[in-house]
Amino acid sequence: MQVTVNVNGRDHTREVEPRTLLVHFLRDDLGLTGTHWGCDTSNCGACVVLMDGEPAKSCTVLAATAAGHEIRTVEGLEVDGVLDPVQQGFTEEHGLQCGFCTAGMMLTARALLDSVPDPTSLTDAEIRDAISGQICRCTGYATIVRSIRWAAEHPKEEQPA
Ligand code: FES
Ligand code: FES
Repeated sequence: MQVTVNVNGRDHTREVEPRTLLVHFLRDDLGLTGTHWGCDTSNCGACVVLMDGEPAKSCTVLAATAAGHEIRTVEGLEVDGVLDPVQQGFTEEHGLQCGFCTAGMMLTARALLDSVPDPTSLTDAEIRDAISGQICRCTGYATIVRSIRWAAEHPKEEQPA
């Protein structure tokens, strides 16, 4: 079947099997390998992308289901060569070690920061709750929370051009 999925602001049309998962569509059909595939049980969250601005595990979404929705992957966080504050935050606060969970963590963080009028008011507990569907085997989460807080305190309009 033919599907057209909007990814990072561009429509992509491909022939896929009806059973094709969004994670495989992104990685194998579009070459967007920043989205990781970490389990067969919908538990790890490595595959999280944004679907109409909300975090979604792309291993639980069919490519055909994603048609008509706006998908954002980690490749879409940087705009015109400027890192998103969450990318900068993960750099500043060392929010990753192996990096396997990082793309999903950053996209969930972006959705969280976009969902509240004042991201600086987020508590550590609220940040931890937001990323609770994603597993990190390396960091112990403390640096991830600090990275998201850094992004909350450095909104995009304050980033250098
Ligand atoms: Fe593990 Fe999607 S690949 S939850
Ligand atoms: Fe290795 Fe999170 S940085 S799994």
